[in-house]
Amino acid sequence: MKTRLGVLLGLLILPLTLSAASFKPGHDAVASAQPFATKAGMQVLAKGGNAFDAAVAVSAALAVVEPYSSGIGGGGFWLLHVAKDNRNTFIDGREYAPAAATATMYQDKNGDVIKGASLNGPLSAAIPGEVAALAYINKHYGRLSLAQDLAPAIKLAHDGFPLDRMFHEMIANRVDKLKQWPAAAAVFMPGGQVPPTGYILKQPDLARTLKLIANEGDAGFYRGRLAREMVDAVRANGGIWSLEDLRDYKVVLRQPLVGEYHGMKIISAPPSSSGGVVLLEALNILSGYDLSHDSNLMQKHFIIEAMRYAYRDRAEYLGDPAFVKMPIKRLLSPYYAAGLRVSILPDKATPSSDLAPVAAGAPESHHTTHISILDKDGNRVAATFTVNFRFGSGFMPPHTGVILNDEMDDFVSKPGVPNGFGLVGNSANAIAPHKRPLSSMTPTFLETPHGLAILGTPGGGRIISMVLLGTLDYFNGGDATSIVSIPRYHMQYLPDVVFYEPGAFTPDEVTGLGNMGYTLQRVTPYGNMQAITWDYKTGKLMAAADPRDIGTAEVR
Ligand code: DON
Repeated sequence: MKTRLGVLLGLLILPLTLSAASFKPGHDAVASAQPFATKAGMQVLAKGGNAFDAAVAVSAALAVVEPYSSGIGGGGFWLLHVAKDNRNTFIDGREYAPAAATATMYQDKNGDVIKGASLNGPLSAAIPGEVAALAYINKHYGRLSLAQDLAPAIKLAHDGFPLDRMFHEMIANRVDKLKQWPAAAAVFMPGGQVPPTGYILKQPDLARTLKLIANEGDAGFYRGRLAREMVDAVRANGGIWSLEDLRDYKVVLRQPLVGEYHGMKIISAPPSSSGGVVLLEALNILSGYDLSHDSNLMQKHFIIEAMRYAYRDRAEYLGDPAFVKMPIKRLLSPYYAAGLRVSILPDKATPSSDLAPVAAGAPESHHTTHISILDKDGNRVAATFTVNFRFGSGFMPPHTGVILNDEMDDFVSKPGVPNGFGLVGNSANAIAPHKRPLSSMTPTFLETPHGLAILGTPGGGRIISMVLLGTLDYFNGGDATSIVSIPRYHMQYLPDVVFYEPGAFTPDEVTGLGNMGYTLQRVTPYGNMQAITWDYKTGKLMAAADPRDIGTAEVR
């Protein structure tokens, strides 16, 4: 009895005594998808910047050294934790559709979706949000000036840097797309050739654009000469941007979604991302099981089923909150999860066709980027941002150095017709003027009585299932290294297929899942997760970059 009481008291006291709010890590940590970007963050921290300055510096550097994934012609989400106020906030710097966009703009006169129209060229580009987000974060949360935060990126663009293996491969994979747009080809394929690794890639136009933003703030991008150059080039090549679209763009500040899984707090992305809703709905379903007592096969069965139900609701309900009413409260209620749980059989896969209908498609792996940052004072950033597919639309307005996104493909071009990630949806995510396309990007913080984790990844529709697996790994005692390394599997309702990396299932599990009725498809490794974990008791701070890619993590 005494011991029981002791444990109980311990459990009650622990959350009060050991919490991130009550003491500080004393070290800085940065994890990003590219070594020069990680260094840019460390440089700004060494100059007296905080995690928010580092986030601006790393994001801007990635626009230079990883422009196939993200950039100032794209957008994304920056989840911030402000240590001194013990407060979280979410900067929605997602692109929005131009005012001239319409729900059927990617359909032909027969109502069929025109292949590639939402993926290539300036008509596929939404109005970028990244510059507005970075300027906002610098102004409201940073300690240094915007020029100081952008300095490493400007230097990388101006002086150049040696092309890495990944960048080389990305150009090689996108030759056809880049060749269509002369300004982009001139930068990434000098002399019409794919440059070899080690080639010093200089981007003087991008350096000039970044300098303009350093001097004038976001007005340098959304108004004036650069805005005119971008709009003129977009319109001359079949796009529909206007100066007003750029002038009127604003970040939206949102309350992050907060949920709970067996005592672990999850802080994640609200709509216009589907990430937090799907993650929390899946965790709510899983909360009703005691997975630690189930066999590995049963655990995976329940996790896959939780993914299926949560991704189905993504397709049905989610979109930009400024345009659609979403039953978020219901979707995230424990009663709703309990209702779904009763329809999950212990020994059988649920055919997706048995659930209320929404169409199929084949996912493919692409690009986007995630950064995780923690500073010595306990400020945190988890940010995922993108130009969508590799090199976005491929279109670069001449003289700007800016690759424009193809984020319009994240909308539903036609209800039931899958997008580039095989994701389906309905009118909730239809195209409308100044509407934000539904995202899957899921920058997330996890907090337990014993420590915290910062995580996220690219991967299109697979992002949320990767973050779910990372979350469960952390809950089960994992650290930054295991969170980014564990083999992955994914189910997104439609297609009714479980995709899995080599090593995700044992041969027995493959047989077992097959016997339950699952269709399994082995895929090449995917994702590029960046994670930080901090253990309050031991003080151990770990940062890790996904071993599948070239990213780096530093702690100092
Ligand atoms: O916002 C989204 O969900 C997508 N545009 C993300 C694209 C992506 O992750 C591509 N990556 N591998």
